Amino acid sequence: MDFQLKTLTVAQAAAEKSDVLIVLAGSAPIASKDPLSVLAASARKAGDLPDKAGKLLSLYRPEDVVAPRVVLAAIGDGKPASVRTGVVAAVNAAKAQAPKRVTLVFAQPADGAAVACAVTAAAEASYVYTTTKSKAEPRSIRQLTVGVADAAAVAGAFDDARATVRGIELAKEWGNRPANHATPTLLGEAAKELAKLPNIKCEVLGPKEVERLGMGSFAAVAQGSAEPLRFIVLRYQGASKEQAPVVLVGKGITFDTGGVSLKPAAEMDEMKFDMCGAASVLGTFRALGDIQPAINVVGLIPSCENMNDGRAVKPGDVVTSMSGQTIEVLNTDAEGRLILCDALTYARRFEPAAVIDIATLTGACVIALGGVRSGLFASDDTLAAALEAAGEASQDRCWRMPLDDDYAEGLKSNFADVANIAGRAGGAITAAKFLQRFTSDFPWAHLDIAGTAWKSGAAKGSTGRPVGLLVSYLTSRAGSGEASGKAKPRKARATEATGKKARSAK
Ligand code: BES
Ligand code: MN
Ligand code: ZN
Repeated sequence: MDFQLKTLTVAQAAAEKSDVLIVLAGSAPIASKDPLSVLAASARKAGDLPDKAGKLLSLYRPEDVVAPRVVLAAIGDGKPASVRTGVVAAVNAAKAQAPKRVTLVFAQPADGAAVACAVTAAAEASYVYTTTKSKAEPRSIRQLTVGVADAAAVAGAFDDARATVRGIELAKEWGNRPANHATPTLLGEAAKELAKLPNIKCEVLGPKEVERLGMGSFAAVAQGSAEPLRFIVLRYQGASKEQAPVVLVGKGITFDTGGVSLKPAAEMDEMKFDMCGAASVLGTFRALGDIQPAINVVGLIPSCENMNDGRAVKPGDVVTSMSGQTIEVLNTDAEGRLILCDALTYARRFEPAAVIDIATLTGACVIALGGVRSGLFASDDTLAAALEAAGEASQDRCWRMPLDDDYAEGLKSNFADVANIAGRAGGAITAAKFLQRFTSDFPWAHLDIAGTAWKSGAAKGSTGRPVGLLVSYLTSRAGSGEASGKAKPRKARATEATGKKARSAK
C-alpha cells in the first residue's frame, strides 16, 4: 500500500479521483460551505452522524464528489485514540467494495499525532495475510491519500508513520507465518535482508558459535529440536560510534511445545507466535532503515524451537548460563527466560545506554493485562517513563508492573543458583525477576507482550505490536538529544535537533 500526503480541503478532496472518500469529522462545528461539508454538518445536526468516534454515515454518489462512495466518520475529540477508532471503522466499512484508491481527509485541522494514527489505523484495518494461501486475495487498497489543511506541518510525522507501518507489517508477516515457514534459519535470513537498508549490518551465529560463547542456557532449550538455533545480531548506526546504543532483545521461539513439560493440545498452534518479540525487533529495524534517526541501536534475537525429543532438556536439569550463573530447569515450558538471559548477558559488550527485551513470556501476563496493554517492567524510572510515553503516543500502550525483590523468593533452588520458575502467583513478575538477575550492568526494561502480540479466535493473527511503541521511543530519543553522548560540532547538532540524519531521496 502506497501512502501519500496532500494539502486538501474537504472541497478539494471531493475532486480527487478515488474509489472511496473518507471524511473525518471531529467535534468542532463543520463550518466550510462546500457541498460535502454542508451535508456533513446537516447530518450532524439531524443526529445521523453522532459525535462519537467510530460512528459512520455512508453515502452513495453524492453530488459534486468524484468518488462514487463517501464515508463520513466521526473522530470525536480528534485525539489519537479517537482518530484510530474512526479510521478503523471507516476503512472496515469501505473494504467491502474492495477499493483500490482511498482518500482520507480531515475536515478539521489535524496535528502530527492524529495524522500518524490515521496512517497506522488505515494500514491495520486493511492488512491481509497471504503468504501460505494458494489463492490469496491481497489487500485491495493500493493507494491511500491523506488530506490535511497543512501537509508541510505534519510531513515528518507522516513519513515516520509510513515507515512504522512497514515495520509493523514486517513483524505481522513473520509472526503470522507458520513455524515450518518461519524457522530460526529463515528468521536469520530475514534479518540479513534488512542489512540491505542504509546503516544496518547483520551477523547470524549458529550452534557452534553459541556454544563457544558459553550460552549454555540458550543451547539447552534448542537441543531438543532438529532445527539449528540462530543468534541474530543486528546493528543500526545512525550516530557516531562513541554514542552508547539502545539494545533490543527479542524472544525468538519459533514454536513452543513446552518441551518435556508439554503444553495441552488446545490452541497449541498459537505457539507459532512465540517469536513475536523477535519479529518486533525485525520490524523496528525495518522502520529505522527508513527513518534514519540519529541514534545507535543493536538488535539481538536468540531463536530456536522448544521441542520434546530424546535429547531435550529435562525438568531438574541444571544448565550454566553465559553469565556463569547455574539454572535449575524445573519446567521446560519456561524456556523464554532461558534464551533471553544469555542474550541479556551478551548485550553487556555493547556498553548500552539501555536494554529492552521484548517477549511473549508468560500466560500470567495475559491474565493480568489482557490484550490491551503490554506488561512493562523496568529497573530504571526514566526508561520506564519514556516507554510509557511512547506507548501513549503510538497508541501501543503498556502498563508498568512491580519488581520488588520479595517476588524473587520463589526462584530459589536447592541445586543451582536460581530456578527457572516460581509458584503460579505473580507469574509475569517472577519471570521478570528471573531476567533481572542478568541485567545488573545497564538500565533495563522488559516488555511482556504475551497478551498483545497476537489476537486469537476469528481474528487470529499477529498485531505487529510493540513496533509502534519501540519506533516512537527510539525516534523521540533521537529527537530529545538525550541520546547524544558528547557535544557535537554545530552542524551535526543542527541535524540532530530534528532527530533525523539527512534523508535519502525517496
Ligand atoms: N510462550 C509461553 C507464554 C505464553 C503462554 C504466551 C500463553 C501466550 C500465551 C511461555 O514460554 C510459557 O510457556 N510460559 C509459561 C511459564 C510457566 C511454565 C512458569 C506459562 O506462562 O505458562
Ligand atoms: Mn513455554
Ligand atoms: Zn514460550
